[in-house]
Amino acid sequence: MRDPQEILARLKELREADAPTHGGRVLSYVYDSGLPELDRLAANAMALVQQVNGLDPTAFTSVAVMEREVIGFARDLLGGDKNVVGTMTSGGTESCLLAVKTARSNYLGAGTPKIIAPTTVHAAFHKAAEYFGLELELIPVEADGQVKASAIIEKMGPDTALVVLSAPCYPYAAMDPVADVAGAAAAQGIDCHVDACIGGWILPFWQGLPDWDLRVPGVTSLAADLHKYGYAPKGTSVLLTRGRDRQRAQYFATTRWPGYPVVNSTLLGSKSAAPLAAAWAIINALGAPGFAALADSCRRSTDSLLAHLDSIDGLRVLGKPVGPLFAVAQDDGVPVGRRVDPHRWADKLRTHGWYAQLQPAFRQLDGSWMPRTTHVTITPATEPGLTGLSEAMVKAADEVRGEPGVDPGEVLAALGGGALPELDSDTAQGLLAQIGLADGSAGLPEAMAPVMALVEALPREFSGRLLIELMARMVEPRDP
Ligand SMILES: Cc1ncc(COP(=O)(O)O)c(C=O)c1O
Repeated sequence: MRDPQEILARLKELREADAPTHGGRVLSYVYDSGLPELDRLAANAMALVQQVNGLDPTAFTSVAVMEREVIGFARDLLGGDKNVVGTMTSGGTESCLLAVKTARSNYLGAGTPKIIAPTTVHAAFHKAAEYFGLELELIPVEADGQVKASAIIEKMGPDTALVVLSAPCYPYAAMDPVADVAGAAAAQGIDCHVDACIGGWILPFWQGLPDWDLRVPGVTSLAADLHKYGYAPKGTSVLLTRGRDRQRAQYFATTRWPGYPVVNSTLLGSKSAAPLAAAWAIINALGAPGFAALADSCRRSTDSLLAHLDSIDGLRVLGKPVGPLFAVAQDDGVPVGRRVDPHRWADKLRTHGWYAQLQPAFRQLDGSWMPRTTHVTITPATEPGLTGLSEAMVKAADEVRGEPGVDPGEVLAALGGGALPELDSDTAQGLLAQIGLADGSAGLPEAMAPVMALVEALPREFSGRLLIELMARMVEPRDP
């Protein structure tokens, strides 16, 4: 066997090239509690179940105990009564997929079942519709990212299997009108899922919100990710469902093969118990008061940054964000020379060591455009570095103020203009090379603004295919 120290040294070296997971510098993807002792506890809990197979809680009974305790805690926190049951999943996407699969199984209509959701619903529902053969009807949101309840309600009908609302949505942190829509859905016997993947473990500690969780009568299921504001390592989310019979449709069971009887509550078969153990340990350590204290820190940082952004000429916060996240857009209300393109701004922020996430401009089904924005997610780790982040935001804005954003038309011209080719793997790779994105070894390009402009410029199928090529080539084995 090779020296373990040597192997771990190589891993440490590889990790050095990663975006930092701690310290609050990365303003998406990671949710740092800022408490190293909590990370240590999670690591120890994971080590204790390293070899456990979460597939079978009858053999590994610790899995059932931990799962039921986490679900119990989540149910109390999220307003569920004794009629609410739950499952641990591997993350937000799996929770979304399962919510859709269950609704499809319970659908009694005749035609293709439909999901209705605002444009801002997480892309995981696009995936769910594709995987499970449902139609997804996306309802345009207003310029502030808010959807009108009536716009959703008027689309509901006998072919609607599920309405999905977000609490809040990821792109702009808009809180969807849960009570109005869930009430109307219940009146028509339609299931209503609340995607609280990002908000579920922090909004219960955010004062001044209308009811948005299982306290609302028509809400039939709700998901809340522990690997976000539950501060757990990646691989864990809770999916709560109202009514045992509704939820049982989520399961898959078969005895129609010669092997062991298969009973799966989630999409996977064999699965790690490590993220569950970590989440369970963290919940036991923090309890509601611990979560509340961390939420307070996020609230202070968010309020401070929102006020700060208000004072930066040329930028604006989109809509009225709810929770510790928001999107920053260009302020078109000031003269052109004072405007700040949010993508140039994000690229500059990165040169100052802060990683915000670029979101492309988006054309909705009614033809209206949502502007390009930069997404910022706040965690408890933000607060100690708040001054540095605030200063970097000003500096970055000063450095790009008046500079127009990357023009999607120009990016398109760089691809040679004319008709877009059929994309097989090599053609896609050729195009990526043309725009300097073929070498996946270097990770993300220096500037992301041109990449986003490309997404804005190209037809969606085409940009999707290019991005698949980019990601797929990153993991192709290379010559030593
Ligand atoms: C509202 C919402 N739903 C679903 C997801 C998907 O979660 P995951 O990345 O854990 O699969 C996210 C992720 O940010 C989210 O914010």
